[in-house]
Amino acid sequence: MSRLVIAIDGPAASGKSSTAQWVADRLAIRHVDSGSLYRAITAAALDVQPAYERWTEADVLGQARRVRLAASGRSFAALVDGRDAGERIREPDVTRAVSAVAQMPGVRAWVNDEVRAAARDHDVVVDGRDIGTAVFPDAPLKVFLVADPWERARRRLVQQLGRAPSDREVAEETDRLVQRDAKDATQMVPARDAIVVDTTYITQEEQVDRIVALARAVTRREDVTSEG
Ligand code: DC
Repeated sequence: MSRLVIAIDGPAASGKSSTAQWVADRLAIRHVDSGSLYRAITAAALDVQPAYERWTEADVLGQARRVRLAASGRSFAALVDGRDAGERIREPDVTRAVSAVAQMPGVRAWVNDEVRAAARDHDVVVDGRDIGTAVFPDAPLKVFLVADPWERARRRLVQQLGRAPSDREVAEETDRLVQRDAKDATQMVPARDAIVVDTTYITQEEQVDRIVALARAVTRREDVTSEG
């Protein structure tokens, strides 16, 4: 039986992962955060060589063998050496090095295989960068989230600082985000059949409602098709 895949793509700090988790909860299916795999591989590689500028693709792929995804609650956890990598993968040294790792074609192929394997046995909402284009080109629902860089920066700072940031803080964070967007640019093209959702002026609850409604429409359509 083929499984339901909902692909959610978008730039850094577009709220992909939290939106994807929320949508998965509402639909009672599982969430796969593909970025967590790039981050877990990066954390594993940092254990053995902190100077990431020296990493070759072969070094990184060697460390990827220590990483896997395991079903956990309504989601999947990235394990390193069999243990949940937890918050380690969100630390600044991992965030600094991960873009370089995500540029390595062999690593991308490895991550994509892991993500597809997770989706073989479960209905999933998968978030990342090239999910609707490269990983699941046949997904029945592809969403591409966009938001103004200033608003993405502001949301990220509210989450990190737990208070309203100053304009200067937002301006600095916006610069960092725009630089990251440029580094990740090749993975940021929406699939031709993706539905672009601009979240700049809507709340996260509204974006979740919109994606859940799209998902319900798709599953209804697929039911009709399979019956007919
Ligand atoms: O979404 P995130 O910040 O956790 O992603 C970490 C890095 O991995 C970031 O540089 C984008 C990259 N990434 C990717 O290239 N393709 C994916 N499917 C997921 C993440």
